[in-house]
Amino acid sequence: IEEWNVEYAEGQDFQSLKRAADEIVNTDTPVAFPTETVYGLGADATRSSAVKAIFAAKGRPSDNPLIVHIHSLPQLRQLLSDKGAPSPESDPIPAIYKPLIERFWPGPLTLILPVPEKTVLAPEVTAGLSTFGARMPRSILALSLLRLCGRPLAGPSANASTRPSPTAAEHVYDDLQGRIHTIVDGGPCEVGVESTVVDGLSSPPSILRPGGVTVEQLRQCPGWEDVTIGYKDKQEGGASKPRAPGMKYRHYSPKAEVILFEAGATRPARAEVTKKSKVGIIRTKTWDAALGLGAAETSVSQTNGHVNGASQPSAASSIPTDAPSRLSNLLRSVIQHQIPHAQRHTLDSSGTEAWDINLGAETEDVARGLFSALRELDKKGVEVIFVEGIDDTTGDDIAAAVMNRLRKAAEIRT
Ligand code: TXA
Ligand code: MG
Repeated sequence: IEEWNVEYAEGQDFQSLKRAADEIVNTDTPVAFPTETVYGLGADATRSSAVKAIFAAKGRPSDNPLIVHIHSLPQLRQLLSDKGAPSPESDPIPAIYKPLIERFWPGPLTLILPVPEKTVLAPEVTAGLSTFGARMPRSILALSLLRLCGRPLAGPSANASTRPSPTAAEHVYDDLQGRIHTIVDGGPCEVGVESTVVDGLSSPPSILRPGGVTVEQLRQCPGWEDVTIGYKDKQEGGASKPRAPGMKYRHYSPKAEVILFEAGATRPARAEVTKKSKVGIIRTKTWDAALGLGAAETSVSQTNGHVNGASQPSAASSIPTDAPSRLSNLLRSVIQHQIPHAQRHTLDSSGTEAWDINLGAETEDVARGLFSALRELDKKGVEVIFVEGIDDTTGDDIAAAVMNRLRKAAEIRT
C-alpha cells in the first residue's frame, strides 16, 4: 500500500477515468466516484474554490468537515508535513495509527489526524478544526482516480445533504443531476455504509462514527483494546455537543416517515400497517413475508442492472445508459453486488398497498442494501416505512453502523 499502480487500466475505462480526473484537476465542478462504502463527491482538497463547490452541490452546512481521500502513505505524509515539504526524519504518521493502517488500509476506515501549521489543505475541508479525517479507500476505481488526479480529494458522500447516502450511480444522479457533470459508475457499492471514523489522538482512542470496520476488529489492534464509543445514536439532539460534527444534523432521511423496530421489539400489528394507504416494509432477520399481509401481487424479478456484467437499466435507474462517464463492463465487472428490490402486496380488506423489501439475514447484506431500500421505497411514494432492526450489541459485525444510520433516519420502537 505504499504506492498504487494504475498502469493495468487501459483503453476505454482508462480514458473515462482520465477524463474524470482532468475535470477534477482543471475545473471547480466536483466529480462523483464509487468507493467500497458509498459514492463520494470528489474535489481537489488543496483548492478552496473546488472544495466550496462540494458544499454548494450537496447543500451541506459549511461547519461539517470533509474526509480527505489519499492513494498512498507518501501522499498522506506530505499532508502531515508543513506545506507538503518532505517529511522530517521521524514519521509524521502518529504511531497509534500504524497497526490500523497495516490492517485496514486501503479500506473503510477514516483516521483523525493533526493539521500541520502550514497546511496545503483548503480551510473549507476542515471547517476550522485543527484536525482532518483521512481515508485510503480500497475500491480500485477510487484508488485509480486518486492516482490519476495526483492530489488529495476532499470527498463527502455524494448525496444531497440529509438524504440517504448513495450506494449506486443512479442514487447520485437522482440527487445531483444538474449540479455536477460526471459520475464514475462502478455499480453498487460493496459495503454500503460509510467508513468507521476513529480518533486516536485522544486517550483512550474513540470511535466517532461506526462504519465498515467493526469495534471488535479495532479492539484486536495494539493500543486500541480500550477504544471507547464516542458517538450517540440512541438519544439524538441531547444537550452534549457531538464530537463528529456531521452527526448533529438530520441524516439519512427518506421523505417517508421511518419507524424502526429495535431487534427483539414486537413487530407492527396488521392494524397499524393498514392505517395508511401506502406503506413500505424493510425486513431483515425474522419478519416473515410482508408481515403476513398476503402473497406478493407482482413478483417481477428485478435486478440492480449490474448482474453478470450486463448493463441493463434497472427499475430504479434514471441515469441515461449512454452517460459518457459509464465504464465498460470489463472494469465494472470487478464489482458485482446484487441489491434486493421491492415487491408489491395489496391487502384485500383494507386496500393498503404494501411494498416489501427483504434485505436478508446476513448483516453484510443488510448494510449493502439499506440505503438503496430507503430510496426505492421513497420512489414508490409510501407514507411510512416499517423497518426490522438488527442486533448491534455484539460488536463483531457492522450492525452498529446499520443501526446508527437507521436510528438517525427514524422514530424508534423498542
Ligand atoms: O465512507 C466514507 O467515509 C464516505 C466515502 C465517500 O469515503 N465519506 C463520507 O463522508 O461518509 P461524509 O462527509 O459524508 O462524512 C464524514 C464524517 C462526518 O461525520 C464528519 O463530521 C466526520 O467524518 N469528520 C470529518 N472530519 C472530521 C474531524 N476533523 N473531526 C471529527 N470528525 C470529522
Ligand atoms: Mg455523508
